[in-house]
Amino acid sequence: MRMPMMAGNWKMNCDVSEAEALARGVVEGVGAIEKAVVVLCPPATALDRVQGLIAGSSIKLGAQNLFWKESGAYTGEVSPLMLLSCGCQYVIVGHSERRGRFGVPEDDMTDDLLKVFGDTDASVNRKAKTALAHDLTPIVCVGELLAEREAGLTDAIVRDQVLAAIEGLSVQQVQSLVFAYEPVWAIGTGRTCEAPEANRVIGVIRTAVDGRVGTGVAADVTMLYGGSMKPENVEGLMQQPEVDGGLVGGASLVAESFNKLVRAAEEIRGR
Ligand code: PGA
Repeated sequence: MRMPMMAGNWKMNCDVSEAEALARGVVEGVGAIEKAVVVLCPPATALDRVQGLIAGSSIKLGAQNLFWKESGAYTGEVSPLMLLSCGCQYVIVGHSERRGRFGVPEDDMTDDLLKVFGDTDASVNRKAKTALAHDLTPIVCVGELLAEREAGLTDAIVRDQVLAAIEGLSVQQVQSLVFAYEPVWAIGTGRTCEAPEANRVIGVIRTAVDGRVGTGVAADVTMLYGGSMKPENVEGLMQQPEVDGGLVGGASLVAESFNKLVRAAEEIRGR
């Protein structure tokens, strides 16, 4: 049985005291929720402090990225052991902003600079394997660019990303991970994917997973939608049978709006 899930991706927002205030607001609002999984993914600098605040509530901690080595000379990287030591249970892997696939590149982003966010299908696979090997649940992000959608390539792009991400994983490992379908053109743009279309593409992901690891396996895999999810559109999305929840950026930065999403997920899909 799939539990509904709301994961807040705070991205590069919140210093430690802002993170503390935001986490407190979420704990006060939905810290006792039982029929939905709530995950907060603060920046690495605030993981430890947020863990202290959510301890004793039902809220879980997630990171935004990880490296596949446990330690060593990898300046600036964060290892799975470090995430575990902060109390993380989840980690976002392959977000489009890390794949260097910004939908609307910032003015100061040249092609060269975009490569700094260098995740590829191969590194996403490595990171997913590393997370699973350390009992961290990867939230694996996939999604097409606007140009790819307009060229009719959405299903093929998403399928390829999914199959690359789960390459070499056992059935059990695939069942334990979380996918987030995040059309790149809908991230941070205010432009949401229509709910039935989000449902359809997540269906494509389930079919791809079943095709690779065995019929029926994907029915157990939690699949989120991400891209401008907010209180105004959450109901329509959560009513879709394939959509188990959301990976939420902008709307997760205000406790009140994130808490509304959590309550909607619980009301509509919590059993
Ligand atoms: P958004 O971001 O909700 O601000 O569109 C979602 C995400 O990037 O995970």
